[in-house]
Amino acid sequence: MDSRTFLKKLDRIPDIPTLPTVVFKVNKMLQDYDTSIKDLSKAIEKDQAIVSKILRLVNSAFYGFRSRINTIAHAVTILGFNTVRNAVVSVSIIDAFSSKDSAKGFDITDFWKHSLAVAVTSRYLADRTRLVTPDEAFVAGILHDVGKVVLAQYFKELFGQVWVATREQGLSFYEAEKKLLPVNHAQIGGHLAKKWQLPASLFEAISYHHAVMKSATHLNLLMVVHVADIIVNNYKSDSESEPDFSGIYPEAAKVMAPQLKSVSDWFPDVVTEIESACEFFLE
Ligand SMILES: [Fe+2]
Ligand SMILES: [Fe+2]
Repeated sequence: MDSRTFLKKLDRIPDIPTLPTVVFKVNKMLQDYDTSIKDLSKAIEKDQAIVSKILRLVNSAFYGFRSRINTIAHAVTILGFNTVRNAVVSVSIIDAFSSKDSAKGFDITDFWKHSLAVAVTSRYLADRTRLVTPDEAFVAGILHDVGKVVLAQYFKELFGQVWVATREQGLSFYEAEKKLLPVNHAQIGGHLAKKWQLPASLFEAISYHHAVMKSATHLNLLMVVHVADIIVNNYKSDSESEPDFSGIYPEAAKVMAPQLKSVSDWFPDVVTEIESACEFFLE
C-alpha cells in the first residue's frame, strides 16, 4: 500500500470522528472580525454538552479564576475569543476519540496524558518565548499525535505491527512507522486537520512535529510543539544526568536555549499543571 492508497482508505472510513458542527462554526466566526461576543456565545450555546464542559473548564483549577463564570458570554469576555475557541476544540477532540476500542498496546488514557503533557509544556514555552500565543500552543499540543489514535482505532493490524517492532527492535514509534507503514502518524494527523478545516498553523505543527521543516510558514508553533514533545519524552525527574535533547531541531534549540538550559528549574511546576489538566480533561 502506498501513501495515497492509505489516505484514500482513511477517507472512506465512515465513522472516523469529525468535530462537532459547533467547532466549524466557531472557527469560521473567528475569521470574521465583525463577530461579536453575543454572536459567538449564541453559536456555542447551540451545543449544550459543550457549554457545560466549557463552563466547568473555565471554573476549574486549571484556569484559577476567583469569581464564578456562569455564561459563555462571560467566559468569552474574561478569556477572549481564541481561548474559548481553543477550549472548544480541545474538549471536542478528546471526547470524539475516547469511546472506541483500540489495538493491543494502545492505552487511550496514557495517550491523552501524553498529549496534555505536551499541550501544557507547549503553553509554557509559548508564554515564555512569546513565539506564539499560549492557547494556540495548547491546542497544537493536544492534537500533535492524533494520527496515532487513528492508527490504533482504525488500522489495528498496522498499529500492532508497529507496536511489536518498537518492543522487539527497540525502535521509537516514529522510527518503526517509517520502516513499516506507508504514512506515519504525523501525516495522518495532518490529513485530518485539513479535513477538519483547522488553521494552517495547526496543520503544520501536527504534520512536521517529528521532522521540522524550515519552509513551514508557521515555524514558531511547529518548533514549540516539537520541543515540548521532546522535553516530555526525555525529561526524567529522578535522574541525576542531563536529559537528552539531541533530537531537537537546531534552530529550535537555539531559539529556546534559555528554557532548555533551565528545564529542571521549571519543568517540575509544569508537571503539577499537567496533573491538574489531566484531572479535568480525563476524569
Ligand atoms: Fe508524534
Ligand atoms: Fe508526542
